[in-house]
Amino acid sequence: MAENNQLKSNKLIAAAASARSAAYVPYSKFSVGAAILTKSGRIFTGCNVENLSLGMTICAERSAAAAAIAAGDKEFVMISVVTDSKKPAVPCGACRQVLAEFSPEMRIVAATTTGEVEDFELGELLPKSAQ
Ligand code: THU
Repeated sequence: MAENNQLKSNKLIAAAASARSAAYVPYSKFSVGAAILTKSGRIFTGCNVENLSLGMTICAERSAAAAAIAAGDKEFVMISVVTDSKKPAVPCGACRQVLAEFSPEMRIVAATTTGEVEDFELGELLPKSAQ
């Protein structure tokens, strides 16, 4: 079972790494890719999309969540986030709240392009989210 989860998260990290290459980041130059595995077994990807009006920027995690919701898949099992930072980057507070709306018990797998990985339960990162 643990091995199976490892395989799933490796596949999800690969999907996020690939989505990362589509990031639109003219302002920060910080590309982020995300991939969500849903209960139905499908994978939805997203990347960050920045805007001249910086506050309109959409994080990779929320863009992946929107793709899943648009396809009618609302039950998230796991999300992977890939960055080229030194340490794995976890979703920001806004993204945690959006993910918790659908799946407060999902797993978060944060990875770097050099292969460092950390994983969490969403509830550890956003305790007592309104549900
Ligand atoms: N960003 C994400 O897409 N996800 C994160 O988890 C961290 C931050 C984006 C927002 C912005 O485009 C850039 O990274 C720098 O903050």
